[in-house]
Amino acid sequence: MALERTLSIIKPDATRRNLTGKINAKFEEAGLRIVAQKRIHLTKAQAGKFYEVHKERPFYDELCEFMASAPVVVQVLEGDGAITKNREVMGATNPADAAAGTIRAEFAQSVGENSVHGSDAPETAAVEIAFFFSGLEIVG
Ligand code: CMP
Repeated sequence: MALERTLSIIKPDATRRNLTGKINAKFEEAGLRIVAQKRIHLTKAQAGKFYEVHKERPFYDELCEFMASAPVVVQVLEGDGAITKNREVMGATNPADAAAGTIRAEFAQSVGENSVHGSDAPETAAVEIAFFFSGLEIVG
């Protein structure tokens, strides 16, 4: 499998509950390496830009409001097949559907407040990583 990088966000519901370390442990136990990481507080406009693909969805405004409601931790995860592996570790978007042992099964509070975001494909991973990080900030 190819070495990949993916963008991960630990969301406000998780940073509020002091879960950054427990979530990072899940990534590292799965063999994903955290090769860049920073804690930031997004404005609603910045969250809106990041989630622009969802602009027409009914939950867009609520999503942007939530993502700006408290700090997030943005990260680059690296590993063999990192994009798919991260999605497995996160579990389904709706925690009610997430497999046992996944981050969302253990920590998410609802489909909106679902603790983590992960890129869904190589093209989106490249765009999402560049949204938050310069090349100099990623140390593999
Ligand atoms: P994420 O993987 O970050 O990508 C888009 C986000 O939209 C998703 O996780 C959820 O947090 C959010 N989302 C998806 N469906 C809904 C919904 N029905 N209501 C509120 N938020 C949603």
